[in-house]
Amino acid sequence: MDSSEFFGFLTSRSSVRSYDSTPVKKEDIEYILSCASTAPSAGNLEAWDVITVTDEDMRLNLADAGFGQEHLATAPVLLVICANYVRSMSKYGERGILYAVQDATIASTYMMLAAQAHGLHSCWTGAFDEDEVRSALGLPQHIRPLVLLALGYGHPPSVLTERMATDEHIHHDAW
Ligand SMILES: Cc1cc2nc3c(=O)[nH]c(=O)nc-3n(C[C@H](O)[C@H](O)[C@H](O)COP(=O)(O)O)c2cc1C
Repeated sequence: MDSSEFFGFLTSRSSVRSYDSTPVKKEDIEYILSCASTAPSAGNLEAWDVITVTDEDMRLNLADAGFGQEHLATAPVLLVICANYVRSMSKYGERGILYAVQDATIASTYMMLAAQAHGLHSCWTGAFDEDEVRSALGLPQHIRPLVLLALGYGHPPSVLTERMATDEHIHHDAW
């Protein structure tokens, strides 16, 4: 893939919030997770974990925890990506909290893009009640759920979202 194809790949992705009931094959989920395993991480500790959720009752519980967002209930797969604080703090102490969040965020980004490369749709979902997600999935205290990544085959919006001008993000040499 050359750089213009890469840019085209990035701009063709959008968050999808309308899903068909078509299931996602186990090997397709495995492809996405193996792509995530290639992500960089602080000290190569890979301080992230993921729970793959396909069980309908569990998905409905998570949709409730996500304030009733419809795509959480209808997407056939939810990947719950979590920071594993203990894995990073064992080497980095307090700083490990931040590294675990970064590790899990990068892994989530790889999953989102791997889904796109594999012909699947996704929606990164950050609005949810953490305690409810914790309790639904039985998460231990040192595991923090960061992202519910909805996955499936669906209907992308007809109009892509706009972005700020790139220049608005950029500062040269100092703020
Ligand atoms: C940290 C984060 C949290 C998000 N939370 C939600 C969410 O709770 N529900 C939702 O529908 N979309 C959520 N999104 C998706 C954004 O709304 C979406 O990425 C943004 O509007 C740009 O649109 P695009 O992904 O189609 O390019 C979230 C995205 C990020 C990165």
